Amino acid sequence: MWRNLILATSLFACVIPVGRSELEPRKTVTIEVYLPECARLWIEGHETKSRGPKRLFVSPPLPPGKYTYSITATYTSPDGPQTVTRLIDVRPGDFESIDLRPAEMRPITDVEYEPTPQKVVDALLQLAKVNRQDTIWDLGCGDGRIPVTAARQYGCKATGFDIDPDRVKDSITNVRQNGVERLVTIEQRDIFTLDLSKGPTIVTLYLLPHLNAKMLPQLRKLPPGTRVISVAHRMADIKPDEQIVVETELGEFDVYLWKAETLRAN
Ligand SMILES: C[S@@+](CC[C@H](N)C(=O)[O-])C[C@H]1O[C@@H](n2cnc3c(N)ncnc32)[C@H](O)[C@@H]1O
Repeated sequence: MWRNLILATSLFACVIPVGRSELEPRKTVTIEVYLPECARLWIEGHETKSRGPKRLFVSPPLPPGKYTYSITATYTSPDGPQTVTRLIDVRPGDFESIDLRPAEMRPITDVEYEPTPQKVVDALLQLAKVNRQDTIWDLGCGDGRIPVTAARQYGCKATGFDIDPDRVKDSITNVRQNGVERLVTIEQRDIFTLDLSKGPTIVTLYLLPHLNAKMLPQLRKLPPGTRVISVAHRMADIKPDEQIVVETELGEFDVYLWKAETLRAN
């Protein structure tokens, strides 16, 4: 288990909750940190005892609000001693992952591959009210299950983008096995370089909270009427237009929907 440290409640006294409500349920925050194996790590100025290339922190259940953590790693590189600090905004219920490794140690992807359970794929396409005229873009498409399912079930066009050549190969195989080559295109691209202003009527994401926030300037260029769906993660502090919870054998998945006009207005 990666739960190698439960952060002490006192740590959270260092951060400033906004908009607390005693009536709403408390939830934990989980933060995964990638760093060089021997790095020392501080959270809110407290040095942690854990070691290894990936460290996981789970907070005690917290009241609703926004919390900012300062995360600092120190390590020695061929260029000498390095100190890296990152500020990270989280809300109770968030899973966040940050990478403090030097550039040459980082993978090409911004988030690890984790497929959306098929039951959640089916539910999110229903939530989006997909029809034949839609064009779906899945940003970070993994094995292509979202575009392939959309084409098979709704007969619409879909494109999957992924930066990882192995995921692109998996997606192309999936497209061929399902006979949807006429409707589905797969491209190897960095999603943060895509122009979203022309093309999709539905955008799907299964990334991380900070990557959704990074994607916002691109999403705000989507034409009105476009729907944006995020699996598991919120979009900065923008209230979704719709939200569902899907129960799966891996646990509950939140699925959020924003209209493009909502993202533009916030
Ligand atoms: C959590 S998986 C989601 C896969 C798929 N959308 C699904 O829901 O089953 C995230 C995917 O994003 C891809 N990815 C990460 N960073 C990326 C980037 N900058 N550009 C394109 N794809 C990226 C990863 O390779 C991975 O396949």
